[in-house]
Amino acid sequence: MILKGLRCLVTGGAGFIGSHLTDALAARGADVVVLDDLSNGFESNLESAMASRRVEFVRGSILDADLLARVTAGSSVVFHQAALGSVPRSVKEPALYHQVNATGTMNVLEAARASGVKRVVYAASSSAYGDQPTLPKIESMRTDPRSPYAYTKLAGEHMMRSWALSYGMACVSLRYFNIFGARQRSDSQYAAVIPRWAEALRRGDAPLIYGDGGQTRDFTHVSNAVHANLLAATTTAPLTGEVVNIGCGGRYSLLRLLEVMQASLGTNVTPHFEPTRAGDVRDSEASIAAAKALIGYEPVTQFEQGLRATLAVSAAAAR
Ligand SMILES: NC(=O)c1ccc[n+]([C@@H]2O[C@H](COP(=O)([O-])OP(=O)(O)OC[C@H]3O[C@@H](n4cnc5c(N)ncnc54)[C@H](O)[C@@H]3O)[C@@H](O)[C@H]2O)c1
Repeated sequence: MILKGLRCLVTGGAGFIGSHLTDALAARGADVVVLDDLSNGFESNLESAMASRRVEFVRGSILDADLLARVTAGSSVVFHQAALGSVPRSVKEPALYHQVNATGTMNVLEAARASGVKRVVYAASSSAYGDQPTLPKIESMRTDPRSPYAYTKLAGEHMMRSWALSYGMACVSLRYFNIFGARQRSDSQYAAVIPRWAEALRRGDAPLIYGDGGQTRDFTHVSNAVHANLLAATTTAPLTGEVVNIGCGGRYSLLRLLEVMQASLGTNVTPHFEPTRAGDVRDSEASIAAAKALIGYEPVTQFEQGLRATLAVSAAAAR
């Protein structure tokens, strides 16, 4: 499959990762329909992609089956990025998460099946591994979802596999590990740690750390997630619902992350510690061997390079 002239649907395409993916698709000559209800995304994230005239934005929900059928018609590939993303919010509102992330994913697959879509690429989550001590995380390890968010994202992976086997659709799940980059929201209660800390440090406020700060993550710049999606869309390998990790294959503690951020921003603010949150995992690091074997994935941007680029963009936006 080649990207030039490819018609595709990006659900959640006005969000953080989806808008970067839409940029990349449009830049390579694909024709993209974005479906997003703007519950956590912004139409302004699509400004540069829309200027290419290759992107159509439709405001609406993956829970609206009729709309989904209309926007899916004619697409060859669906990139399913739409979801509710916060672990703590999912603990408070499990039914909503089940509806949007699990039922919504089934709706996307059913619309794809009805329209004869050739391939579905799914944004899965490393939260599927839970809090197991073995590192790095390998796809053959048992899963242990520890929050409603993690369970719903894992349910989506099982749907990809079942729809691939039952209906012969090419499906693949990309298990993202802590994706960060420009356009990641810093203004919500549930914001990811990098944009939240960047904002706090710039204001001179204490960055908030849940736990002792020794917990580790495989922080992965968004360019790597985009790269993985493009590889998954274009590979000639048969896709039958495989699950592959998408990370950098390294890990950094929150204290180390803070140190690198303070050095980049020229700040020296003492963090504030709060107790660990329900559903949060201790350590996380991806093995990326399976993604390499299946789709030829290797990271295109390493952690510190991606972090510096992200802080530079957010500094420019803050001016
Ligand atoms: N950011 C990460 O580190 C990370 C890690 C693992 C998995 N993921 C997955 O990647 C995907 C994208 O995440 P993100 O970080 O870009 O989050 P995001 O919130 O920026 O993007 C999700 C988008 O989906 C939209 N959306 C939510 N509910 C919708 C609905 N019912 N119908 C249509 N659109 C809807 C939101 O408005 C938003 O624009 C999600 O599926 C998420 O679970 C992200």
